[in-house]
Amino acid sequence: MTALAPATLAPALDGVRLSIHVLAASVWVGGQITLAGLVPTARSLGPNAPRSLAVAFARVQWPAYALLVLTGLWNISATHAGQSGTWQIVLGVKIAVVAVAGLAAWLHTRASSRSSLAAWGAVTALSSVAALVIGVFLAG
Ligand code: HEM
Repeated sequence: MTALAPATLAPALDGVRLSIHVLAASVWVGGQITLAGLVPTARSLGPNAPRSLAVAFARVQWPAYALLVLTGLWNISATHAGQSGTWQIVLGVKIAVVAVAGLAAWLHTRASSRSSLAAWGAVTALSSVAALVIGVFLAG
């Protein structure tokens, strides 16, 4: 029987960096999923309730996005040295996906028809979840 290598703890600063990044990701991605779940109930409270909820969420969502970009740059400066070409390509894909998520979220807030609201909402959610999954693979 082979012995398992003992698990090690992340250095303190890496723990801080990744905790802030993951906390902001939980607000950006988890907030969208939670809001989508609340919309049917919000509709029953009045025709403007879903939009009011979305405006309130935007006050939390955009600071979280800014924090993701800042801590994402911090992640790169802390981890890029010695990474493989594949890692760099996956990082490039992730940055493109994050840009799509931000653009789609902005277009979603400006959409006036129901179909464009739904389409941009779907693109935002899918690209945000993709960014999260790619991030997990980058962290290794
Ligand atoms: C929608 C935006 C984003 C989401 C949801 C997201 C999510 C995540 C998650 C969940 C992780 C894994 C953390 C772990 O497993 O410990 C991660 C890691 C990472 N993210 Fe992001 N992220 C986003 C934006 C960004 C941006 C804009 C950048 C670069 C500018 C970036 C660069 C990285 C890097 C380099 C890692 C690996 C960190 C390491 O290995 O220590 N992320 N991300």
